[in-house]
Amino acid sequence: MTYIFAHRGSCKDCPENTMAAFKKAYEDGADGIELDVQLSKDGIPVIIHDEKLDRTTNKKGYVTDYTYEELTKFDAGSWLSKSFSGEQVPSLQLFLEWIAPLPMLLNIELKNNIIEYNGLEEKVLQLLHHYGMEERTVISSFNHYSLVKIRKMNAYIETAPLYSSGLYEPWEYVKAVWSQSAHPHYKSLHPYIMEGFKQNNIPVRPYTVNSQKWMNYFFEWGTQTIITDYPLIAKQLLNNP
Ligand code: G3P
Ligand code: CA
Repeated sequence: MTYIFAHRGSCKDCPENTMAAFKKAYEDGADGIELDVQLSKDGIPVIIHDEKLDRTTNKKGYVTDYTYEELTKFDAGSWLSKSFSGEQVPSLQLFLEWIAPLPMLLNIELKNNIIEYNGLEEKVLQLLHHYGMEERTVISSFNHYSLVKIRKMNAYIETAPLYSSGLYEPWEYVKAVWSQSAHPHYKSLHPYIMEGFKQNNIPVRPYTVNSQKWMNYFFEWGTQTIITDYPLIAKQLLNNP
């Protein structure tokens, strides 16, 4: 049985990384949600993918140059469709309040591989603890120093390196960065790599698996989770092969 994680929420039907996209992922039957976190100017963890606001809001400039209060005034929905005008850049706290009572898993990607946000790891861990989400969350990042930092602060929370290609024996790399699972680009996975992960008891969650052909491969390989823009289609395919 493979878990289905909605990438930035159900991001093909709703504006990515907004509460509308997360609520749609729940309606679609996703087992979990993947989202991206950065810090506002006043140090509040906020959910947005790009370092700049330009693509997914009606404002320009760096996320880190605006306070959370200012960010909430920007429109994070109209870029996709007028019907989503008024969607905000959510804070991680707002999101956790919503998801905590639901039977869902969570993947927080720390978006700190381009800008290093001082205190991001501590703040995310504190919020996860406050909402009792530590046991159903995996923290991932392309910044693998950040994953080691997390492990030094918290002995138990699951972490996973994100990577795009070319790692030799990636199951060994996962251990080298003190992690428990791997989040590779889906095209970097081959049966012999999957076998290596399996032998080492390391769960794999490839991103971003959008074609039904690749979904079926991963279901057949017994992949623990896939991260997809199309959770509804993935769930239907899994339940009615
Ligand atoms: O976490 C998997 C995937 O989201 C990583 O790439 O650019 O979509 O954040 P990106
Ligand atoms: Ca991401």
